[in-house]
Amino acid sequence: MCGIISYIGKQDALQILIKGLKCVEYRGYDSAGIAIGDEQHPFRIERSVGYIENLIKHVSPLGLKGHVGIGHTRWATHGGIFEKNAHPHVSNDKKFILVHNGVIENYAALKATLLKTGVKFYSDTDTEVLVNLIAQYYQQLEQLPTSQRFEESVRKSLAEVQGTYGIVVICTDCPNELIGVRKSSPLVLGINPDGLFLGSDVGAFSGHIENVVYLSDHEMVHIKGMDYQITDLMNGSVTSPSLETIDREQNTADLGDFPNYAKKEIFEQGTALGNMYLGRFSSDGSSAHLGGLQITPYELRQVERILLLGCGSSLYASKIGASLIETYARIPVDVEYASEFCYRNAPLNKNTLVFVVSQSGETLDTLNALREVKRKGFPTLAITNVVGSTIAREAGCGIYLHLGMEVGVAATKSFTGQVGMLALLALYLGRMRDMSFTDGRQFVQALQSLPQKVDEVLALCDKPMQKLAKTYVDYQHCFFIGRQMLYPVAIEGALKLKELSYMHAEAYPAGELKHGALALIDPSVLTIVLATNEEVMGKNISNMMEIKARHGKVIAIGLEGCEIPQKAYDEVIYLPKVYPALLPIITVLPLQLFAYYLASERKCNVDKPRNLAKSVTVE
Ligand code: F6R
Repeated sequence: MCGIISYIGKQDALQILIKGLKCVEYRGYDSAGIAIGDEQHPFRIERSVGYIENLIKHVSPLGLKGHVGIGHTRWATHGGIFEKNAHPHVSNDKKFILVHNGVIENYAALKATLLKTGVKFYSDTDTEVLVNLIAQYYQQLEQLPTSQRFEESVRKSLAEVQGTYGIVVICTDCPNELIGVRKSSPLVLGINPDGLFLGSDVGAFSGHIENVVYLSDHEMVHIKGMDYQITDLMNGSVTSPSLETIDREQNTADLGDFPNYAKKEIFEQGTALGNMYLGRFSSDGSSAHLGGLQITPYELRQVERILLLGCGSSLYASKIGASLIETYARIPVDVEYASEFCYRNAPLNKNTLVFVVSQSGETLDTLNALREVKRKGFPTLAITNVVGSTIAREAGCGIYLHLGMEVGVAATKSFTGQVGMLALLALYLGRMRDMSFTDGRQFVQALQSLPQKVDEVLALCDKPMQKLAKTYVDYQHCFFIGRQMLYPVAIEGALKLKELSYMHAEAYPAGELKHGALALIDPSVLTIVLATNEEVMGKNISNMMEIKARHGKVIAIGLEGCEIPQKAYDEVIYLPKVYPALLPIITVLPLQLFAYYLASERKCNVDKPRNLAKSVTVE
């Protein structure tokens, strides 16, 4: 939540900041702002409400000059979506300018103290409290040389702050310097011969740099011209940076011929799964090869329970993964909301292996859950898509999805990727237990054919789903129902519809509708029935009939060769038969398309749904 980009170097900062802001816009798009200047040019702050485009229109005629700058794109936490709450924020004495990603939890108490000393506030944000606190310490530390005074003021202020922050600060007395600090909100230092960058993620300066330093919590980077030093925030001791080279390709995402990222990412799922599986099957073709696990087969055999932690779509993918692991490896699996796990002191059995599942690798709830599990001494692994993300680094080992950057705020390819990876894990664990060589071979062949199947199903469903979206565009309520592994698919389908099209949607296990929610069914309510699981086809058909008997509308997602009686639905689409473990992936595709086309009919911004952000780094 909230994106940061900063630059100091030989080039003009403006274009770099604008380009960087566009790259981190997925982290929040309520407002945006920049501060630019240098030794020759006094710093100017410009801000606009809404998308980066608004900021660009606003700053284009202004001719801002400077080689030093900070930029921010906001996802509102404290204070409404107004220009006064947009970042950067400036101290009363105009000496400090600051951008912040995170939440200052004790801001009210700090603000009350500052108010007593005469500080005036012009926004409703927690950030304005911090920038004024820094200014106040700066006044008190006048005995120190300017640059050190700047650093100490930031250090002392943050010692008083409870909460989370990734911040970058300008001090106008040191116009060729920047200070960045991180605690639980990501901040990455980018390095190239022309300049130094600070960003919320490497995407913020993609194309400019190859070397990065991922700041750890409680690290402060003080940039002076082309030099930088990283110190421990608490005691000021110098830490030696570990420089990493990033793969430029991984951090760029071109739209190509697609009108938006949502559509692009839906249609590239086959390719993404193919890339993810590269080199990940064992040479005998009967199991998986998961190098990142770093757990010996012997240790894996000792595992008695698995716990999967995640949020949102990652949690729903985990629910499917749990069924897959239980079915194919016969290991009991629990799945928990990471945000709940952190605060409920769940008892964990010994020999429990914990996986955290997160596309971004930055979700704070998931990160906190990971830390809690680590504190309790359990082995933790991460399944993430973003190389070098905080969760990937803190988990120590795990599995990268390598799906390519997901820009659309709604998870699409990351959902199918996570399910596809958990299927591979189920196969791997299964082969260590009771799964036979021939069953393993069959599973591998199914996974190998998955990318092509996904392409086929997308092609098959594209037009029909577009048509159905037009038919049902004015409906206000939609249920998604499914049984077995298709229940979490139903939840994911409902989430996609809600976040992309703003239509109210709910998911139920198909058998549960009659226990209460059936009361809501009438001709104005649409129900999408996921009926691709052959084993329970009869039950699914009964549930459809129950809805039709109450004059509800039914779209059935059926399976080729398993005819559904016409009176059980209003519309039907039959998907091709696949290996049972792959049904969830195949079945979610028409739901993604339905949500996408319905949102497009409703003229919603499919890449940046209202109120949301891609990387949720607040609790
Ligand atoms: C839904 C969606 C969110 C994320 C959730 C977790 O489309 O994108 O529900 O799945 O915020 O994000 P990650 O996977 O990055 O931890």
